[in-house]
Amino acid sequence: MKKNIARHQRSLPPQRSRKGQFGIVMRGPHGDESLTERPNPEIAICGILLHPAGHTRSPAMHNAAYRACDLRAVYHAFDVKPERLALALDEARARGMKQLAVSIPHKEAVMEHLDQVDETARSIGACNTVTLREGALVGQNTDWTGALEAVRREIEPEGREAVVLGAGGAARAVVYGLLQAGARVSILNRTEARAGELATQLGAHGSGKLDELGDLQPEIIINTTSVGLRSDVSPVSESALPASAVVMDAVYDPEKTRLLRDAEARGARPLSGKWMLIHQAAEQFSLWTGIEAPISVMGRAFDAAGP
Ligand code: ATR
Repeated sequence: MKKNIARHQRSLPPQRSRKGQFGIVMRGPHGDESLTERPNPEIAICGILLHPAGHTRSPAMHNAAYRACDLRAVYHAFDVKPERLALALDEARARGMKQLAVSIPHKEAVMEHLDQVDETARSIGACNTVTLREGALVGQNTDWTGALEAVRREIEPEGREAVVLGAGGAARAVVYGLLQAGARVSILNRTEARAGELATQLGAHGSGKLDELGDLQPEIIINTTSVGLRSDVSPVSESALPASAVVMDAVYDPEKTRLLRDAEARGARPLSGKWMLIHQAAEQFSLWTGIEAPISVMGRAFDAAGP
């Protein structure tokens, strides 16, 4: 347990609803609210930077974890436009905010505004976590550990054949995590050239087009494309899914995507992408607090905060 976290407060005082110095509107556990001019210094402030505000389940997960661990802290959502990112980080530093999650569209741009970025985040090319350490903003990435821990709920990737569908930002963290765990990774993408570039950059073992899945016999398949998001389509045909595979879908809206239902129909093991989000948030919690995250509490909060 780190010294700078005050403990033993279960109920947090409601904050007044008005805009912070830089107009950052936050949505916390008490609804729309923003930092008061004189925030209570005994309450640690954390949050997520994103734009547009949209729906995020991160405040629900983190606030539930703080309550479960008796931490005197509060987690807000901050709607920050790209052109205000530098100002928001200055404000975070000035106010001594303890940790910020970084979401779309800031994951790459944020790196140039930080005091330090660790080697892993640099390799992945994205930073989803900023933690204040001795006055410095330090950037890290927990998306890759989130993906890896999610897969490990079903299978240990070491020595396994894995296929990642997609070659965008989400694929980078997933491929990195699987490679770190010792899997043999192939990347398949609609645009084959992008898959090839990512494979070369990260040292994956192969690349190709989505319809080549049927030629491979992977034990792990992870969809990182946006196909299936709020629609009943899959990026690959059902017949290409091996019956022995663990199939995870980074798309979690709906929770049972077409890909996961196809996997189930084939006798394969479907795995919801919601675990990637829960585990990446849990890792953030641990990076800041130094204590093990209450995963089941965070999982329940994630479910309860659903649309
Ligand atoms: P993210 O950061 O969420 O990964 P992205 O970088 O835009 O978003 O990547 C989206 C991924 O989904 C890409 O792999 C994209 O394939 P292309 O590289 O060919 O664009 C994939 N994707 C999006 N729409 C798709 C579709 N209709 N069919 C197949 N793949 C699709």
